[in-house]
Amino acid sequence: MDQADKKKIDRADFLKGKLEDVVYTDPMKLFSNWYQEAIEKNCADPHAVVFTTASLEGKPSSRIVYMRELLEEGVIIYTNYTSRKGTEIIENPNVALLFYWDCCERQIRLEGQVKKIDPLISDDYFAARPRISQIGAWASEQSSVIPNRASLEERVAFYEKKFPNEVPRPPHWGGLIVEPTYFEFWQGRLGRLHDRICFEKEENDWATYRIAP
Ligand SMILES: Cc1cc2nc3c(=O)[nH]c(=O)nc-3n(C[C@H](O)[C@H](O)[C@H](O)COP(=O)(O)O)c2cc1C
Repeated sequence: MDQADKKKIDRADFLKGKLEDVVYTDPMKLFSNWYQEAIEKNCADPHAVVFTTASLEGKPSSRIVYMRELLEEGVIIYTNYTSRKGTEIIENPNVALLFYWDCCERQIRLEGQVKKIDPLISDDYFAARPRISQIGAWASEQSSVIPNRASLEERVAFYEKKFPNEVPRPPHWGGLIVEPTYFEFWQGRLGRLHDRICFEKEENDWATYRIAP
């Protein structure tokens, strides 16, 4: 990479907002407000979030998933329970989520523990999905090595035949809820002097503090 290319990576200043020195009390409310703003301002893929898990030995792995619901208790995502992420969270329920909303010059970091949601809620969500996604959830043994593309398509054809009408939810597919115990709200500012406000769960309350950029 030459000098000109390196310069292109360095973006212009962040100027779109600020986090004042006020007392913030409810991180879920702030999260929900920022999420709404990301939607209203047409940020690209506002529901996309980097989901990081780690093995028992602490080896991390990240991938993008979609946040499907934001509740008081946490963030709901849906996935294959036998995938790499699905098996890592059984060994180690400590996870991180990272949202980046470029159009608002904001990122939110969340850390906490993850668990499976009530199967009945997963059933409802699955039933509302397009048929092609439902068949895909049966056909794809997510994260497993497969010999070629054709083998995946054969499995799709198999499940298309097996379930000509309603497609039941596969037992290996469903929702997860990430219950946060830590948040960081990051707002880009002039001269890289960004605002960073953190929340840490203390029993039933949130401690809040500012950290240096
Ligand atoms: C924009 C985007 C959205 C995605 N949404 C999901 C999702 O909601 N659930 C999911 O399991 N995978 C989703 N994926 C695929 C994952 O990134 C990943 O490839 C898959 O979950 C397997 O990850 P794993 O092998 O680490 O378990 C999405 C990928 C992209 C790029």
